[in-house]
Amino acid sequence: MNRLRVGLLGCGNVGAALVALLDEQRTAVAARTGIELEITRIAVRSTARDRGLSIDPSVFCTDAAAIASDPEIDIVVEVLGGIEPARTLLRDAIATGKPVVTGNKELLANHGAELFGAADDAGVDLLFEAAVAGAIPLIRPLRESLAAEPIERIMGIVNGTTNYILTQMADRGADYAEALSEAQSLGYAERDPTADVEGFDAGAKAAIIATVAFGAVVVAGDVYHEGISDITLHDIEMARRLGYAVKAIAVAERTGEPPEVAVRVHPAMVPVQHPLAGVRDSFNAVFVQGGAVGELMFYGRGAGGRPTAGAVLGDLVDAAVNLSSGGPGRIGRLVPAKVRSIDDLRSEYYLALEVADRPGVLASVAAVFGHHGVSIRSMEQHGLGDEARLVFITHECRERDLQATRRDLRGLDEVHELGSVIRVIGHDHPQH
Ligand SMILES: NC(=O)c1ccc[n+]([C@@H]2O[C@H](COP(=O)([O-])OP(=O)(O)OC[C@H]3O[C@@H](n4cnc5c(N)ncnc54)[C@H](OP(=O)(O)O)[C@@H]3O)[C@@H](O)[C@H]2O)c1
Repeated sequence: MNRLRVGLLGCGNVGAALVALLDEQRTAVAARTGIELEITRIAVRSTARDRGLSIDPSVFCTDAAAIASDPEIDIVVEVLGGIEPARTLLRDAIATGKPVVTGNKELLANHGAELFGAADDAGVDLLFEAAVAGAIPLIRPLRESLAAEPIERIMGIVNGTTNYILTQMADRGADYAEALSEAQSLGYAERDPTADVEGFDAGAKAAIIATVAFGAVVVAGDVYHEGISDITLHDIEMARRLGYAVKAIAVAERTGEPPEVAVRVHPAMVPVQHPLAGVRDSFNAVFVQGGAVGELMFYGRGAGGRPTAGAVLGDLVDAAVNLSSGGPGRIGRLVPAKVRSIDDLRSEYYLALEVADRPGVLASVAAVFGHHGVSIRSMEQHGLGDEARLVFITHECRERDLQATRRDLRGLDEVHELGSVIRVIGHDHPQH
């Protein structure tokens, strides 16, 4: 039996669940791989805390750097979070020839290329399944099963908090503030929910997905993002009447060669027949459109200590097997990506506005659409006393033309209020 010693950096939600899960699965892992994995050192901020784990307390210390460079450690798992010291620790571990496993999306979305390059140079694994969509196997399928697939687009619900909030709004008629406060009391949302509701968390994951899917460096700063805080109950109700669900979606698509990509996170109206429309509560799902395989969907828990630890343990076993057999998995050399501006995006759009209810108004509004070459796919009008609410869905058009239309509509006297603009996606799904 080959015995490998694991250094664990961080023992919070994910780290503690990993210690417990490895304890349960050690014999099964050894039977399947011939490798006995043992966590021999753990770095935390406070060694005084009782973590309720059946592990020798002497393995805990506060010196993460000593673990990263310890010659007695074979593999390092980083579940601290944040950029520093995680970045330096992973670089040190890689420099001393250790394979590393991490679940740190923030770090990889900002410094992934540097770390992938360092791991490649050192000939060691850098595995990060848990960094995107928690428990869902996505990175390994993209790197291995789909390595030769001409991937066209990946669309994902990769933030459980926003999906939970939007599901509550749609199912119970809760307004945004009420649904957010419920998500906070259930522990799905942080006290400061900005990273989730404004799309930063999903943006980091979208950057990692694009990097792996297209083999080109995309960083968090390349990702256009819009949050869900402006979505109203009226938008959700209208979407339902028109046959859509409103979802917060991360999209990474190849728009040209050499890799030109468009990567964005925003609320979207998805046809109810589309598989992403049925992803509810805090679940995540990632929908892949490939030129050969067609459509694939990966679904499951995107967060939570134990589900995420499951993904980390999978990587740990993979790294251990590779280390024993002497062949690390490679992400391959990444090339720089050209990132397409959101202004050049082509999409269909939902647009709602409140106007004076008098003859000729519809013609003035339609003229603005026509002036910018935005053609209308469907329109509904609802009377509201002296006002009318107009709801449009456009045919596919350029973002910059839609924004110009919006600007000019705002300038019309007859338009009293401009509501949300929501991109409409998924009409190319065959069941639609
Ligand atoms: N939680 C999830 O559902 C989830 C899902 C997917 C990915 N992830 C990723 O997994 C990582 C860990 O998340 P988590 O929820 O487990 O975080 P967490 O509960 O906050 O745990 C962080 C751990 O790191 C330790 N730590 C922090 N800074 C340290 C330092 N400088 N030196 C030594 N130890 C340090 C903390 O020590 P103390 O315990 O002493 O404070 C704690 O044990 C993050 O990158 C996160 O994005 C988490």
